[in-house]
Amino acid sequence: MSQPTIESILEEKRLFAPSQEFAQQAHIKSQQEYQDLYETARANPEQFWANLAEQELDWFEKWDQVLDWNPPFAKWFVGGKLNISYNCLDRHLTSWRKNKAALIWEGEPGDSRTYTYAQLHREVCLMANVLKQLGVEKGDRVGIYLPMIPEAAIAMLACARIGAAHSAVFGGFSAEALKTRLVDAEAKLVITADGGFRKDKVVSLKPEVDKALADNGAPTVENVLVVQRSEEKVHMEPGRDHWWHDLKAGVSADCPPEPMDSEDLLFILYTSGTTGKPKGVVHTTGGYNLYTHVTLKWAFDLKDTDVYWCTADVGWITGHSYIVYGPLSNGATTVMYEGAPRPSNPGCIWDVIEKYGVTIFYTAPTAIRSFIKMGEHHPNARDLSSLRILGTVGEPINPEAWMWYHRIIGQEKCPIVDTWWQTETGGFMITPLPGATSTKPGSATLPFPGIMADVVDLDGNPVQPNEGGYLVVTYPWPGMMRTVYGDPVRFRRTYWEHIAPKDGQYFYFAGDGARKDEDGYFWIMGRVDDVINVAGHRLGTMEVESALVSHPAVAEAAVVGRQNEVKGEEVCAFVTLEKDYEGHEELSNELKQHVANEIGAIACPGEVRFTDALPKTRSGKIMRRLLRNLASGEEIAGDTSTLEDRSVLDKLRGGS
Ligand code: WTA
Repeated sequence: MSQPTIESILEEKRLFAPSQEFAQQAHIKSQQEYQDLYETARANPEQFWANLAEQELDWFEKWDQVLDWNPPFAKWFVGGKLNISYNCLDRHLTSWRKNKAALIWEGEPGDSRTYTYAQLHREVCLMANVLKQLGVEKGDRVGIYLPMIPEAAIAMLACARIGAAHSAVFGGFSAEALKTRLVDAEAKLVITADGGFRKDKVVSLKPEVDKALADNGAPTVENVLVVQRSEEKVHMEPGRDHWWHDLKAGVSADCPPEPMDSEDLLFILYTSGTTGKPKGVVHTTGGYNLYTHVTLKWAFDLKDTDVYWCTADVGWITGHSYIVYGPLSNGATTVMYEGAPRPSNPGCIWDVIEKYGVTIFYTAPTAIRSFIKMGEHHPNARDLSSLRILGTVGEPINPEAWMWYHRIIGQEKCPIVDTWWQTETGGFMITPLPGATSTKPGSATLPFPGIMADVVDLDGNPVQPNEGGYLVVTYPWPGMMRTVYGDPVRFRRTYWEHIAPKDGQYFYFAGDGARKDEDGYFWIMGRVDDVINVAGHRLGTMEVESALVSHPAVAEAAVVGRQNEVKGEEVCAFVTLEKDYEGHEELSNELKQHVANEIGAIACPGEVRFTDALPKTRSGKIMRRLLRNLASGEEIAGDTSTLEDRSVLDKLRGGS
């Protein structure tokens, strides 16, 4: 179950065309229709998006200008007024959808809740009024640190309703990681829960918030709103902490949506990059609403009869765009599951599909590889016949995993939609349209209509078919990130200068390597920067290194990714110690735990290797390339002539 390599991908020639039966009923019915849409969009992207914005969304006031492109800063639907919570909720209340299931939630211990559109609207209005009562105003930022419970979606929509921006932090992140994000966003309030259930354990959340806020750690936070979920006893700071169920009982359910400017901040979401602390990716209202709506509708061929389930956590972009905003804007039924496969219930995923008759299932290659390991007897023992489309995201999918997904879960009848995109892109960028695109195992296929994607060299020149290069986007799109929160310079530098603009042409640099084959299909090769993709989660090597060196025993640390059978990649850390410390297993475990405390369990190194020195260039730069070779037990590849001290390499090879 290896990751795709250039060789395996070049050899991959299988082609799976949509069945005629599927294509006939799809929104986009043929390759020709896709090509026509693509051409129309390419010829006049602004008109293309404006038409869709008019058809698909409700606006309080129409825009004056479709696109204001002042590279690298884009504004979409300038002057338009709307509210995404209105598009996700209110507008469905005037039709039969009022009593349709909007959100079906399954808790890990076996409890469940279903909210109709009318009920979800009511909950959102109640929370919006509670936020107002606690002093949250339009333009403020609200931290969300919640488990996978309906209140996570309710909280996001409640913020959007009153014009406050949310900044969700994945519930698996530590107090330290939460604190940095709250500080950077200058959050006024945090919405959290006592705890949540995950793999038969209670994950504590409120105590982490307490730690983050201790000693005035995040001084802008005035109040904490706490959802009761795990029913553990938690400390409630008088005057600061409030139970959601208490305050909810005292507010009205009437809360008109705030008319928002199309370019008003909708949310910030932190993500890892090559350098420095995580970046606050900024998404605004109108373009993001349109983009998540249309991409989901076409790429997952979303219909009113679908029961759509995305297994991501709401704390990541996939949860934002494709558990909450995209599905609800379309009036779909979205499923949210709190749990994960665990020894006491390894088949829980298939139970959820069977129980609710899920028709569209969207997960990550890591999850698929773990399903393979657990054995096909689990899915085979359930009735999965409701499924009609399968999706994947987060990392390159190896053709073997793709084929298993196709055969065992899809019973060879469900198109596989491999969606390439990023926190920064807001929504799908390269993806099959299931009624139109013939798929190839391991390829995300073709750009979405309106997306000008390419593979280029460092000078911005397109490379030859099947030649590797940098994945870029050459024209703005409505769902693109607008800036790095509070740091427009970093936005420009990170994404728009890596490949220098030429002749007025700007290149959005995604950080991924890719190749296009002779049919123009994209094959994503993984990150070309110092980002490690562990189980579909992005980690910056710098973040993990900073966490390691904050331990008193560590003098210097260098972290690289290496292949892992299930997780795609895992963290391998090379560490030199301060004098008086000795590298042994106990210390290695302590350091792993230390990283988990500083960042979260996802960042925990799979291996810590102690060494006397790290391989550096004469200018003092750590040669990660060599460490990557060493970590995966490969021969040292490429040039080592810039290495300052060659004996370091021999020692490292010896496996000190
Ligand atoms: C990787 C997740 C290959 C890629 C939506 C990207 C993928 C990073 C795919 C973004 C895919 C995502 N095939 N690689 N289908 N989808 N990636 O911001 O390296 O958490 O740059 O967004 O995941 O991760 P992020």
